[in-house]
Amino acid sequence: MKIAVIAGDGIGKDVTAEAVKVLGAVSSAFGRRVDLEHLPWSADHYLKTGETLPANGYQLLREFDAVFVGALGDPRVADNRHARDILLGTRFELDLYVNYRPVTLLDDRLSPLKDRGRKDINFTVFRENTEGVYVSIGGRFKAGTEDEVAIQEEINTYKGVHRIIKHAFEFATANGHTKVCMADKSNAMQQGHALWQRVFKEVSGQFPGITASHQYIDAMAMFLVKDPGQYQVIVTNNLFGDIITDIGGALQGGLGMAASGNIHPGKTSLFEPVHGSAPPLAGKNVANPIGAMLSTALMLETLGARDEATAIEAAVEAAIATDQTTTDIGGALGTREVGDWVANRIKLKADS
Ligand code: NAD
Ligand code: IPM
Ligand code: MN
Repeated sequence: MKIAVIAGDGIGKDVTAEAVKVLGAVSSAFGRRVDLEHLPWSADHYLKTGETLPANGYQLLREFDAVFVGALGDPRVADNRHARDILLGTRFELDLYVNYRPVTLLDDRLSPLKDRGRKDINFTVFRENTEGVYVSIGGRFKAGTEDEVAIQEEINTYKGVHRIIKHAFEFATANGHTKVCMADKSNAMQQGHALWQRVFKEVSGQFPGITASHQYIDAMAMFLVKDPGQYQVIVTNNLFGDIITDIGGALQGGLGMAASGNIHPGKTSLFEPVHGSAPPLAGKNVANPIGAMLSTALMLETLGARDEATAIEAAVEAAIATDQTTTDIGGALGTREVGDWVANRIKLKADS
């Protein structure tokens, strides 16, 4: 496998080092060659060279089997220009329309909710990843004055909405789920989200074995906290999916636990933890690397290396069960020590 690695900024660097360690462990344990190419694209690189990514950057990424990203975002780049080019740019240019964000509680002790455990917190969010308000269409008129007008358009296309909703139903069918819930704000956003309503009805009609339901996004935010057990598969737009998957991170024990894939089925896809660069934690050996490790598992699974993915997931679960974790989830280890423990566990299991 040829993997491009963009550690990026802040704790992205810290957690990527551990994700790479764990990839190395499964590679040796299973005898699968994994070639990593580290790309320096980051705030440091941008501030030093003025380049966010090279002119042929997206083309370069397409030559890999997958891309792994730590996190991008740095207070020194106030307009987030490099993150927009590197992360959002790759989502758009490689047409990674499926943002796959599983929300799985791995241990009852990590639940933030009273009387809710593993059986209640286990669902998958599909976030549309190439449209919505993220396309940056709009502009500012009379910027910086009291007459300023700022316009930020939301794009919803039939093709874009159809393909993510269809993907959610196909995933549900393939994984033995019986329910798909779509969230929008069609009561207030009567143009764009009427399209979501129409397409959801059309696609759900083609999956009679699946119970299709709808919630407004505000109500869903409430129900995610009050009764997460009702969900199996959620599908929603780019912005709402961003917001509810941070709630999803909290439901898994913390943002450091959450993994994601930015996928175009059958093409080069990008995998990253859900969290950002968390500048206050950067370089201190405190960031939780589990979300990054589980993102490598999603990457391996997507590339067909199911046993390797399962080995990472099992080792992570063992680390949690025995408190070999960072302090945010109750352990006493540093980022690197969690990486060592998980990598060693993979090796031990493979040798036994
Ligand atoms: P963040 O996700 O970086 O951090 C929010 C808080 O969550 C942190 O202060 C910390 O308490 C906790 N947290 C996050 N990851 C953790 C981990 N691995 N271990 C332990 N605790 C963790 O969000 P933010 O502070 O809003 O954003 C910081 C920067 O990251 C911004 O520049 C933002 O744009 C960027 N960002 C990037 C990505 C990405 O690259 N995919 C995602 C989100 C935010
Ligand atoms: C995420 C992040 C990004 C997003 C930011 C960094 C632009 O929050 O991947 O969840 O909003 O998509
Ligand atoms: Mn986010």
